[in-house]
Amino acid sequence: MRGRVQRMYDRHGVASCQNLLFVRIVHLFGPDANRFVLLDKDRIFSARKPWMTIMGRIFPNGLLLMDGDEHKLNRKIMHTAFTRPALRGYAERMNPMVAAGIDGWDTTSGRFHVFKAIKELTLGMAARIFIGADLGPETTKMNAAFENLVAASMSQIRLPIPGLEFQRGLQARKFMVDFFRDMIPQKRAGDAPDIFARLTRTVTDEGERFEDQQIIDHMSFLMMAAHDTTTSTLSSMFYELAKHPEWQERVREEALAYGSDDFAFDDLDRFAVTGRVMKETLRRYPPLPVIPRMAERDTEFAGYRIPKGAMCVVAPIHTHYMPEWWDEPERFDPDRFAPERAEDERHSHNWIPFGGGPHMCIGLRFAETQIKLVIHHVVRRYRWSVPEGYRMPVQQAPISKPMDGLPVDLERIG
Ligand code: HEM
Repeated sequence: MRGRVQRMYDRHGVASCQNLLFVRIVHLFGPDANRFVLLDKDRIFSARKPWMTIMGRIFPNGLLLMDGDEHKLNRKIMHTAFTRPALRGYAERMNPMVAAGIDGWDTTSGRFHVFKAIKELTLGMAARIFIGADLGPETTKMNAAFENLVAASMSQIRLPIPGLEFQRGLQARKFMVDFFRDMIPQKRAGDAPDIFARLTRTVTDEGERFEDQQIIDHMSFLMMAAHDTTTSTLSSMFYELAKHPEWQERVREEALAYGSDDFAFDDLDRFAVTGRVMKETLRRYPPLPVIPRMAERDTEFAGYRIPKGAMCVVAPIHTHYMPEWWDEPERFDPDRFAPERAEDERHSHNWIPFGGGPHMCIGLRFAETQIKLVIHHVVRRYRWSVPEGYRMPVQQAPISKPMDGLPVDLERIG
């Protein structure tokens, strides 16, 4: 995908047009285009329309599938699950889960598959942090349903044919809807600190709250939005740290200097080296390589006319490699994010792995916490490497991931 968008940019500049099955697709390139589309100052663009086409049947009414005032109100209510005290609590509960989850990682086979292990770890965390620690045997069923849901939302064939991915997704959606609906009264009555329970109890200062169906839809979407993106980022970080052992050592030194196995949310900013590696990884492998919108009326960008109904696509995967905005963009260089260089501050929208504007990722701090926390635990316990010359094959769309599962040599050190 990166090669394709680069060719479009080389040939046509900041705007390039394509017609696909009666839909006009306009690719817009560069930080100004990102700001124009994502910030959407003049309220021209719909996030709902393109995202409905992509995942509307599996994740209807997710936050990203809303526009305007409806989106604003729902985002405000949901925000209560992402306040500092809430995040502090999630981090406290993540620590023992991660410690136990990575403890049994297999160092004997010589080929440890990072992607699978991270996926299992983050799925387990999602069940606990998002839904609550009291799932018991339901956890396995929930995990399976959830995996089917995500697979179906990305499915190429969207027909409810028995045995196909999409039909399994529809069944999984029914399972999740019933599951969440049955649990709402119990969650609402208790004082559990998980995200689901918080959404059942939340009332804003103005008295706004979610209806049951809204809670169900938000929960399904949230779990999807959180899970694949974090798994993708962590896998890519493992790769970069294997390719650059000097950085793996620097991250480990930082973790050891912290002095505790447990990672506290209030110390998030003390993990500066890990933070730079995370940002550089997100620059090189943005989990969402492109972000779509639909123009709701005629508009213009850089002299290029965009008609109403056009699908406009901005491309983090392209902006993140533009030599106009990054020094030696092909190079893995986390220090480009150090305060004295701050290449990400050369433009408000040249580093956009979390999007921007009204739909900017609401889970940004949650993701940062989870990623730093997992890396903190792992580097204290393991060292890992890849053979000389190995290059991770990346599947960029719909969400970036290693096509070979990322096999590494894993060694226990702590
Ligand atoms: C590294 C991890 C993550 C990345 C790279 C990421 C990326 C993104 C991006 C690019 C968007 C905007 C999409 C658009 O504008 O069309 C987005 C939105 C969203 N993300 Fe994330 N995300 C991550 C983790 C999370 C987590 C952990 C959660 C929840 C706990 C989450 C929940 C959401 C939600 C609910 C939205 C929709 C926001 C809205 O429409 O107002 N994400 N994310």
